[in-house]
Amino acid sequence: MADLSQQEKQDLIRQALAARKFAIAPYSHFTVGAALRAKNGKVYTGCNIENAAFTPTTCAERTALFKAVSEGVTEFTDIAIVGARIGEVNTLVTAPCGVCRQALYEFTGPALHVILAKTPEDYQEMTLGELLPLGFGPKNVL
Ligand code: THU
Repeated sequence: MADLSQQEKQDLIRQALAARKFAIAPYSHFTVGAALRAKNGKVYTGCNIENAAFTPTTCAERTALFKAVSEGVTEFTDIAIVGARIGEVNTLVTAPCGVCRQALYEFTGPALHVILAKTPEDYQEMTLGELLPLGFGPKNVL
């Protein structure tokens, strides 16, 4: 698939920002939104969902990923991620945690294009391979 245009990247960031509004984060007060673009062009969004028992908490990226996979969509090209403490504008971009990097790697390998955004105008781009060098995935096992 061809690279996204700047407008498409900004649109993906806006979808991540919209998803972030649904985050359940009463413990960390840090809300995250993700928008995962499938190869077929469809976008799956997710937010972090925290839990009083802490360990069942899930991140925005995995919410989006598992929504897609549970609907039979398993190929992805891009993900936009936004996060900040509630009521604050972030000074740092929110990069996916190690578990989410691994979960995404299972489906995309190193190629996934990752957009870490503060706003639709202020973002950094990289690949999942840069975020998870020498990643361990199905190619190692199957
Ligand atoms: N979190 C995400 O949803 N995605 C990330 O990339 C980093 C962390 C969530 C987990 C937890 O609910 C909150 O942010 C604070 O760590």
